[in-house]
Amino acid sequence: MAFQNILAPSILNADFASLKDQLAAIEQGGADWVHLDIMDGHFVPNITIGPVVVEAIGKTTALPLDCHLMISDPAKYIADFAAAGASTITVHQEATHHLDSLVHSIQALRTKNGAPVKAGVSLNPATPIETLDHVLPFVDLVLIMSVNPGFGGQKFIPYALDKARALRDRAQRLRALDGGANASGKKLDIQMDGGIGPKNVAEVIAAGVNVIVCGTAIFRSGNIPDTCRQMKNLMG
Ligand code: DX5
Ligand code: ZN
Repeated sequence: MAFQNILAPSILNADFASLKDQLAAIEQGGADWVHLDIMDGHFVPNITIGPVVVEAIGKTTALPLDCHLMISDPAKYIADFAAAGASTITVHQEATHHLDSLVHSIQALRTKNGAPVKAGVSLNPATPIETLDHVLPFVDLVLIMSVNPGFGGQKFIPYALDKARALRDRAQRLRALDGGANASGKKLDIQMDGGIGPKNVAEVIAAGVNVIVCGTAIFRSGNIPDTCRQMKNLMG
């Protein structure tokens, strides 16, 4: 089953003083989601936005809100992000001792239009994909970090591609085996985040990634809509 390649611009390096215009620009360029980096200064050495800003962003764009929670104890906050309008809530494997129940708790939440919130799990670069084996059959999305989380504009970590290739194979096997666990039979969304731009996006897609996060390369490009269109063309 072919599935759509998705462009999710990350606003971390956008111009926060004119966020409404920046969001309009990625919509004009054909972006599919907007990627919101939530940081608490504890799980990562940076602090960004919380549910109140996510809610304001949700009022200014129709794009699905892809919330990447780089925070400690994410279980405490998932309901607030769902209420703020998150379509996908991605938590870090490294930030919880109870990943199975956390994924199910996210999937039990509803978005503003009543649809189930999608659950994503993110792995820092050095965290092996095997740690996800037991949630792989039912999680909606896996986010493979291609930088150490906390900041935009960092250098791409090439071994993230090996992880993506291995994960795509593993997911196909484990989800086929598990059959019913993922009733929709939907293929797993594999997302990659950090250091991606027009120069390397084709090899990221070739590695089996179908959701591309791109921040600096879009928002610091000087032409946001054109760069989004260029990325979409390169993603196929
Ligand atoms: C880093 C964030 C990324 C980042 C995007 O912790 O998760 O989403 O903002 O990175 P660049 O700017 O390299 O595309
Ligand atoms: Zn991110």
